Amino acid sequence: MQNLGIAITGSGSAAPETSLHNEELSQLVETSDEWISTRTGIRQRRLALPTESLSSLAAAASRQAIASAGITASDIDLILLATSTPDDLFGTATKIQADLGATKAVAFDLTAACSGFVFGLVTAAQFIRTGVYQNVLLIGADILSRWVDWQDRRTCVLFGDGAGAIVLQSNQSDRLLGFALKSDGTQNHYLNLAYQGTAQEILPNVKITQGTYQPVTMNGKEVYRFAAQKVPEIIDKALFEAQLTVDQIDWLLLHQANQRILDTVAQRLNIPSHKVISNLANYGNTSAASIPLALDEAVREGKIKPNDIIATSGFGAGLTWGAAIFQWGR
Ligand code: ACO
Repeated sequence: MQNLGIAITGSGSAAPETSLHNEELSQLVETSDEWISTRTGIRQRRLALPTESLSSLAAAASRQAIASAGITASDIDLILLATSTPDDLFGTATKIQADLGATKAVAFDLTAACSGFVFGLVTAAQFIRTGVYQNVLLIGADILSRWVDWQDRRTCVLFGDGAGAIVLQSNQSDRLLGFALKSDGTQNHYLNLAYQGTAQEILPNVKITQGTYQPVTMNGKEVYRFAAQKVPEIIDKALFEAQLTVDQIDWLLLHQANQRILDTVAQRLNIPSHKVISNLANYGNTSAASIPLALDEAVREGKIKPNDIIATSGFGAGLTWGAAIFQWGR
């Protein structure tokens, strides 16, 4: 009989060596450690060196995830890369496939900003539940330092670079207990990394645009309001699907955007702070990487143990948001 359940059997993460503390940022823009840490909880972030790439960080995280799952790269059927900052707009997942030597795997990118990891988790699960694939590598990775305006104090203090990865495998019992995903494009303008070009006439009466992507713009207040309202709601929905109650959750693992969002969501759900996983003080907001990075740290620290029930939620640009309830390990 085919195993049509899913288990998350391994995790890994990688962050650049270079870190930038809040005090250092105050040499760049008018800000202070006090402002940043009280409003966001962030104390430092990691920044990718010019010699580092999204694929190099992602491959490093992936190697750890594959090793901890006890498989080899050649066992992987599918590589999903959740990112908004690929090395190549045509896709970076195939570069990672080559770096890992995952010769059998089909590989492609998936973009859902800070919800990318949760959207990727659910996407990966569909391929396993339908019996198409048995071993999926899901990576969340972003290098937002490439795309923030380092003169804009409203955004540059928030983001950092990193990568996290997990291995999902077919399993007799299904460890993805429930999920819910949502999008609302009417609020798209609150958070953007948008292409902007100027019109060029390449032949008489033939006009195209040429340009590039513009730095991140964000309406912080609206994004905060959106997250504080929608994240508890969607976790409730995923819990309902899982037929679980809040008190059965061992860990709340939210997209690491801002400590105030983490605290508000936990409070609204009545989840005590010792169950809330947070590492954003050290990494800032690493977008699609933040959940797998925090997950991997918590697993390696021995916080998350086999069979623990984790409620995770990603939220961000799009706007997109989603939640998944899963049990760690086989
Ligand atoms: N240092 C010092 N002052 C600053 C800074 C800074 N880095 N940034 C803004 N300010 C100033 C503003 O200019 C403003 O000054 P003014 O009153 O003279 O105009 C004042 O601080 C207050 O600014 P607000 O934007 O109103 O600050 P707020 O309290 O809303 O905090 C923050 C801003 C932290 C961004 C908050 O809105 C927030 O957490 N929003 C959620 C954002 C988020 O998490 N985004 C990412 C989620 S989605 C994703 O991950 C991609």
